[in-house]
Amino acid sequence: MMIALLAIHVLAAAFWLGSTLLLVGVVTPALAAAGPDVAQHFAPQLFQRVPRALGVAGATTILSGLWLYWIVSGGFNSGFARSTGGGLIGIGALCGIAAVFTGIITGRLQERGRAFAVASAALLVCALTLMIVGSRV
Ligand code: HEM
Repeated sequence: MMIALLAIHVLAAAFWLGSTLLLVGVVTPALAAAGPDVAQHFAPQLFQRVPRALGVAGATTILSGLWLYWIVSGGFNSGFARSTGGGLIGIGALCGIAAVFTGIITGRLQERGRAFAVASAALLVCALTLMIVGSRV
């Protein structure tokens, strides 16, 4: 059960983070460089499909993460949150939850939301790092 949940969590998180990095670092700069003709046709499609896909990945990551947290902390036991590993995983979880909000703002602002997309990418990198370190200390 725990392994299946962890696999779902890691796959969804990989899709969420990987897609965010690709969008921020490659797709949107390429779109800007391609000029207004291409952007006019491609941007509406992009901003219609991307929030849906990232929303599903984000929700799956958060829900499976909360379930995993419930398992490893013995039912949200506060002693786990005070341990080094539990504390790091908890801060990582807060970064992941914050990335949901910056992601929603990005979707609302569309082309003008680049700063929030960059913030989402940074928060997700922090979450990933804290999850990996926290589950090993
Ligand atoms: C509410 C949000 C989240 C919660 C509650 C949560 C919770 C957890 C828990 C409890 C574990 C298992 C730790 C263990 O095996 O002892 C875990 C593992 C993991 N999480 Fe999360 N997580 C969340 C969000 C995220 C996000 C946003 C990412 C990455 C973008 C992420 C990436 C990972 C990875 C890669 C692992 C596996 C770590 C390893 O075994 O090396 N998680 N998470």
